Formats: sequence, structure tokens, C-alpha cells
Amino acid sequence: MSSAHSAAHALYGGTAGRRVTVRDIAAAKGRHERWPMVTAYDAMTAKVFDEAGIPVMLVGDSAAMVVYGYDSTLPVTVDDLIPLTAAVVRGSSRALVVADLPFGSYQGSPQQALETAARFMKEAGAHAVKLEGGSRVLPQVETLVAAGVPVMGHLGLTPQSVNAFGGYRVQGRGQSGDELMADAKALEHAGAFAVVLECVPAELAARVTAALSIPTIGIGAGPGTDAQVLVWQDLMGLTERPAKFVKKYFDLAGAMDRAVREFADEVTSGAFPTAEHSYS
Ligand code: KIV
Repeated sequence: MSSAHSAAHALYGGTAGRRVTVRDIAAAKGRHERWPMVTAYDAMTAKVFDEAGIPVMLVGDSAAMVVYGYDSTLPVTVDDLIPLTAAVVRGSSRALVVADLPFGSYQGSPQQALETAARFMKEAGAHAVKLEGGSRVLPQVETLVAAGVPVMGHLGLTPQSVNAFGGYRVQGRGQSGDELMADAKALEHAGAFAVVLECVPAELAARVTAALSIPTIGIGAGPGTDAQVLVWQDLMGLTERPAKFVKKYFDLAGAMDRAVREFADEVTSGAFPTAEHSYS
């Protein structure tokens, strides 16, 4: 890890030998420290991100699209996400693992939210949960927090509400920015330890960040949030048509295409396997 990443007490790469906790995350806000979060859905990928010092991993309901191939996050179920969450927990030793509560698994009542969160914590070992929405889910957040479940909020473009929004569009422009600010403050008041701001104007996200004492985690929310999150398949270049807010750090699709074609060519030509990859 580079020295820039190993500064004493830094959240990114800083807590050797134990899991990052929500207390570490709160302390990072006090130090005005920025930190990265990525999604993860399997043990091997989680291990790579964990060893790179990523302090928080989200088993997002984006798994619906990037793992299960659906065209929205709506169809994925608790039973679909629990094995992925368990794999990410097993593959990591340092990151705080946040499980996304899927559509329909918490909106019904605070009791339903608690039952779902308990499954993610008991069956998968999740350390926290995330749910979407502001004022309408405050009773759920309060109940979870009272039961000792760390809760991450999610405001702005909340993909589980795509049908209500009429598509994936920027949220919080104009007057709805005041509503988003009020929702963010209400989530903080209800006990959330962090809040994701997705696809909101950068200026609004910076204002919300300054107004809250809990960290904001931006995705398409500009540079003014405390943390940034990306879906790993987006940042690694596996996604065919990524959103405007995605920066592609690697051409994984291209690298995989080249590798699998080389394998196929060597199989068909007889160049693989050689003695090196055979048993005597
Ligand atoms: O499901 C997900 O991956 C998310 C992130 C994009 C924040 O909610």
C-alpha cells in the first residue's frame, strides 16, 4: 500500500488486522477524509478489493443487473442476495460489508425491515444494511437502529423507484433539492450512519455533505461528498453502456475477450495443454 494510503488512522487502508466499523467511518468524517466504496458480489473479487484497502463494500441490489442479468434492480430477492453477501463476507477480512435490502423486503413495515435485516446479519454475516428512501422509511430506520443494526440510507435516484420516477434521471433539481436535504437530515436524525446520494446535482450533494455530521457517499453526485461508490463492473470496464458518472479505470471486457479467444485458439490448434499443464 502506498504511503498516501497508509497514513495513521486513515480509513482507506488504515485499520490493519480488524474490520472497519461504523465508528471508524464516523471518525473519518471528523477528519474530513475522503474514502472509496465499491460493490462486490463474490468472494474472490471481494478479496482483491479488501487487500487493496477498500474500507466498505456494498453487496448492492445492482446484483439484479450485473449478476443475474435483469434490466432493473426490482426482481432480485433476499434469497438471491444472501449467498452473495455471505461470499463477500467470507472473501474479506477488513472491509465493513453492507447488504442492500431489495425491493419489497422492507417497505411494508418496520417489522418486515427488521426481519429482513436480521436474515442478512444472521445468515450472511453482514455488518450493516442499506435501504432506499427518506421520510417514508424513517420508521424502518429507527427500528433497525434501535435493534443495533447499522443503517446506510440512499437518496436521489433510488433505482427501486425507477417506475415512479419514469426512468433513470437526475433527482433533486430545483425545489426537490430542499426535500432531499430534509430527507438527508431526517435519516441522520433517525440514526443512519451514512447516506448514499445517487445522481444529484454536485452543488446539492456538497451542501448536504456540509449540513450532515454523518458521511455522504456519492455516485453521480460530484466531488463534494465524503466518499464515492461505483459498481465494480462499471469501473473495471465490463459494463457495455455505463452512465455518464462512471469512470472506466480498466478494460476488463477487452482483456477477458482477448484471453478467452487465445484459450479457444490454443484449444482448437492443440497448443494447449502442453506437458507443463499435464500430469505424468
Ligand atoms: O445497488 C447498488 O449497487 C447501489 C449503489 C449503486 C449505491 O445501490
